[in-house]
Amino acid sequence: MGIIDEDIITDEEATVTETQEIEIDMNLAKEFAKIKKDDFEGDKILELKDIQVRYEVHGGEVKAVEGITFDLKEGETMGLVGESGCGKTTAAFTINHLLPENGYIAGGEIWYKGKKIAEEESAPVGFLSRSKEAKAKREMINKLRWKEISMVFQGAMNAMNPVHKVSEQIIEAILQHEDISYQEARERTEKLFKLVGIEKSRMDGFPHEFSGGMKQRAMIAMALACSPSLIIMDEPTTALDVIMQDKILAEVRDLQKALNIATILITHDISVVAETAEKIAVMYAGVFMEYGDIVSIFENTSNPYTQGLKEGFPNIRGEKGTLKSIPGSPPDLVHPPRGCKFHPRCKYAKAECMESEPEMILVDENHWSRCHFAKDLYSGKLGQGGQ
Ligand SMILES: Nc1ncnc2c1ncn2[C@@H]1O[C@H](COP(=O)(O)OP(=O)(O)OP(=O)(O)O)[C@@H](O)[C@H]1O
Ligand code: SF4
Ligand SMILES: [Mg+2]
Repeated sequence: MGIIDEDIITDEEATVTETQEIEIDMNLAKEFAKIKKDDFEGDKILELKDIQVRYEVHGGEVKAVEGITFDLKEGETMGLVGESGCGKTTAAFTINHLLPENGYIAGGEIWYKGKKIAEEESAPVGFLSRSKEAKAKREMINKLRWKEISMVFQGAMNAMNPVHKVSEQIIEAILQHEDISYQEARERTEKLFKLVGIEKSRMDGFPHEFSGGMKQRAMIAMALACSPSLIIMDEPTTALDVIMQDKILAEVRDLQKALNIATILITHDISVVAETAEKIAVMYAGVFMEYGDIVSIFENTSNPYTQGLKEGFPNIRGEKGTLKSIPGSPPDLVHPPRGCKFHPRCKYAKAECMESEPEMILVDENHWSRCHFAKDLYSGKLGQGGQ
């Protein structure tokens, strides 16, 4: 451990800092905003077309992502929601080309600002790492990462190096990606800290001197450092208490709007995306069960799995109700169930659900559900719609 001669922050002090309202400095925000409309045609910044991802494991393959399709427009936020192990991080790693050595894209394409950035691979990442194609891909990815697409990793706030000052960790990350001087990177870090509401006097603290909320803000500052057009945030607030979670998410939403950054917000808690995102993808066992406009999906929930998730999480602003968890547990993705992947846990399952996998059905404008009875659920003929 390094020698720390500064005062260690107490919980009380941390709370004072954290409960201060952050007002976004719009002039500062403009410095970090990237609006490059002329960069590409159309308004879709990201498109995933039927992406499938597998991991090779002893005794078979984990079918972690089984054909997901979605798009994001400039400045739009999508919540990617589902229980543990459903493939959320795998989807994020695929977009950012971060799959581990035993993972590969088994089908589909990813397009970013009108250019194809990923497609079906013939073997796991580890096998291809020395090939010519892999080298070309690495160069392309290095240009994309941070400057175009950045990521706040799951559990990242606990992964900061404890012996280095938080500011130095961000400066180092900037210097790795941009050809600027140390002084310029430091000045940028100061501005980023101001943008996310961390006092300049605190920036040279060590990670253990930061409270949870401050660490998370520092991680968000780091992701904003090179003015990306897309940020993927993987469970950015899971380690925080509900009040702090709500506050940080509100700040993320304000920043994201001020900076016009498209965002994928990954969480297992469906209630946190309700006020943060414009669209939502509800994922189960590698597929989207429901996808589209957030208002339509919350008001007219048309999939039993989404209904189950909604019943399982408290809404801190909503009325009190009994929380119910979905019975059973997610399936083994080496041997997923036949038919609808959710059928062993679904209260509406009928014989056909065990035989044939439902397609995505359009139930309303920008609202799709993967269920044989999606239309009946939408109309309230089956279940209770949005309840
Ligand atoms: N490197 C790997 N090798 C083999 N299987 C893996 C690997 N990484 C993830 N998996 C499996 O792939 C599936 C999807 O995992 P993933 O981490 O994407 O889920 P997740 O939705 O992010 O879960 P969580 O909410 O717990 O973070 C799971 O069954 C997981 O066990
Ligand atoms: S297809 Fe059948 S098992 Fe699957 S979610 Fe719909 S009702 Fe449930
Ligand atoms: Mg994950």
